[in-house]
Amino acid sequence: MKLLAQCALLFLSLQLHAQQDPQRHRFITTLMQRMTIGEKIGQLNLLTSDMDVTGPFMKENYKQDILNGACGAIFNAYTPQYTRKLQDMAMQTRLKIPLLFGYDVIHGHKTIFPIPLGEACTWDLALLEKSARIAAEEASADGLHWTFSPMVDIARDPRWGRVAEGVGEDTWYGVQVAKAKVRGYQGTDLSTPNTLLACVKHFALYGAIEAGRDYNTVDMSRRQMYQFYLPPYKAAVEAGVGTVMTSFNEVDGIPATGNHWLMTELLREEWGFKGFVVTDYTAINEMIPHGIVKNEYEAGALALKAGVDMDMQGSVYATQLKKLLDDKKITLQDIDQAVYRVLEAKYKLGLFKDPYRGADSARAKKVIMSTTNLQAAREIAQRSFVLLKNEQQLLPLRKGTKIALIGPLANAQRDMIGNWSAAGDYKQASTLLEALKSRLGDIDYAPGANLSDDRGLLKKLNITDTGRSEDMRKEAVETARKADVVILALGESQGMSGEAASRSDIGLPASQRALLEAVYNTGKPVVLVLMNGRPLTLEWEDAHIPAILETWFPGTQGGYAIADVLFGDYNPAGKITMSFPRNTGQIPIYYNHKNTGRPLDPNNKYTSKYLDVSNEPLYPFGYGLSYTKFTYNNLQLDKKNIRPQEKLRVSVTVENAGDYDGEEVVQLYIQDVTASVNRPVKELRNFRKIMLKKGERREVTFDISVNDLKFYDKNMKYVAEPGAFKVFVGTNSRDVLEGEFSLLP
Ligand code: NOJ
Repeated sequence: MKLLAQCALLFLSLQLHAQQDPQRHRFITTLMQRMTIGEKIGQLNLLTSDMDVTGPFMKENYKQDILNGACGAIFNAYTPQYTRKLQDMAMQTRLKIPLLFGYDVIHGHKTIFPIPLGEACTWDLALLEKSARIAAEEASADGLHWTFSPMVDIARDPRWGRVAEGVGEDTWYGVQVAKAKVRGYQGTDLSTPNTLLACVKHFALYGAIEAGRDYNTVDMSRRQMYQFYLPPYKAAVEAGVGTVMTSFNEVDGIPATGNHWLMTELLREEWGFKGFVVTDYTAINEMIPHGIVKNEYEAGALALKAGVDMDMQGSVYATQLKKLLDDKKITLQDIDQAVYRVLEAKYKLGLFKDPYRGADSARAKKVIMSTTNLQAAREIAQRSFVLLKNEQQLLPLRKGTKIALIGPLANAQRDMIGNWSAAGDYKQASTLLEALKSRLGDIDYAPGANLSDDRGLLKKLNITDTGRSEDMRKEAVETARKADVVILALGESQGMSGEAASRSDIGLPASQRALLEAVYNTGKPVVLVLMNGRPLTLEWEDAHIPAILETWFPGTQGGYAIADVLFGDYNPAGKITMSFPRNTGQIPIYYNHKNTGRPLDPNNKYTSKYLDVSNEPLYPFGYGLSYTKFTYNNLQLDKKNIRPQEKLRVSVTVENAGDYDGEEVVQLYIQDVTASVNRPVKELRNFRKIMLKKGERREVTFDISVNDLKFYDKNMKYVAEPGAFKVFVGTNSRDVLEGEFSLLP
């Protein structure tokens, strides 16, 4: 009976494919009729090349597999020459089915943009799309077809190193970015050779791992999933993303990679996903230590039956599917369905017409790191920086100021491009020292400290220490004494965030903190330039240092971009998309938390609070300063009540009341005051990034419709419930003007 239902489903889905593009359907089915079972299974096998390995390297003879038709896709191989060489091998196989080349093109291919968490702080969706477009241009010319991006895991725990790869804590914003990225990579027609097939990851909930420790477990209610964690993946699917990557974690007790509910019922049946699902690196094998299956044989069956089409690097499908088929644990239809999806992606990319699609040395030479791409990297980097503090307008630096540059990140080329910098060549990256020298001529510079004095950590990060921190600090203090203003470049090395880089203490490493205090004690004004891949705890820094500029890992043009901002050629406008906690004990901390029954009352002992720290983060979601000052006045709602089909118009007057022209991200939040389930105190629902000249004033308007008020109600129905709502508009999630309205039935 079950088999019958399955066959009927497959038949229906093939019918649908046939209707969508009969020619493509005919091509694929004809090809599949000619394929042996071995060749079919080969299409489901994704192996890493030895060019650039991003996990355990398990399969040295992958080239033999290509020649045998036992491998349908390769990752971690690029350049036109290399991919052509491998594709030539595929062209020697019986059916000449082209290889698909994938890679982690996460924030640029060769021209490296800021890390995603930094880029998100631009609040500029057109720019986010543009960097993906440029990455696709460069990567496709370099022989690639497929990027393992965007990563859209919502994350509320900055201990997790992979927050660097995502958009931060907000679901609504995550949805907007997911769509922009898919559009940027895939364009409107995947057969155009300058596009990349995108892969939304890590499906699902990877950002919610317990205690921020990478690869850890996740336990979450369906309500929490639907409301906060799933929407960005869904948005990518709606934007037409071609592939989905499974996450390492479990979802509701079952690892994502073997989770039928997730991969088939939700992803395909509920959301209508039509592309193929690839595992994360050896994720099928990992279901054994997860304690879900006894061996690879069982793991392969569970994954395929769940709806997972391609096995990344684990070789479980390659070694087990034939046996499973012979033993009738899986059906030929199960295999055919996965093969069909993979071949369809190859067809859509135009690989059957031209297996060497896009890989072109001449084009690569022209587009890779072109002047316009580098210019875009510089602009995006400038816009990703967040001014966290600027007392007495220490910034921008005045011309003629004598500057000393200090810090282990002042001239750290490798760190500039951050983690997951793919094919990026750090030797092409500008450092802050280089950029300042090109502006000011020779300047006083001292590294001042090791990135960390923890030898164990340095070893893990492959960093050699550069001397005794005490000696370095002494030299730095002397250097500082000669200057009018000291710029201190501190933070994390690139390896301190990203995959497998969780930290339990997210402050500045002790060596750097000691340097900062020593320089601060000279009495010289200090500008702290931070480079890091996650929110840091900065209570001491915020209390003592007059100016703090967060620059993340800013990419190939990072050094120049920082200098542009320090000297006021660009007035910073970035806003953080993840709260910065005061200390690690506050984590998880996020702006859109729910009310408790005992909201904070400082005068009442028995309310929800800590004894030793406030409930508030140091810097809230959406926060970021400018060299100018924006004031918000006159919040107006055009109605007191709206009916479901009506729109509410909200307006506010924003004025640039400072001394510089500047951009501002005007943010709109909503609260459902009383509802059938507990709703957050505030949720972002819209924003506008505007440019105001010095002295200029503008009315900014937003329309709120019933869709902005919907949520999963007590019956898990996505509805808006009549009743009272609050609306907040402001410069960040904390500092807002407030209004009220009601939704009528
Ligand atoms: C493991 C990571 O989790 C994933 O994000 C990445 O795409 C793969 N490795 C491939 O490198």
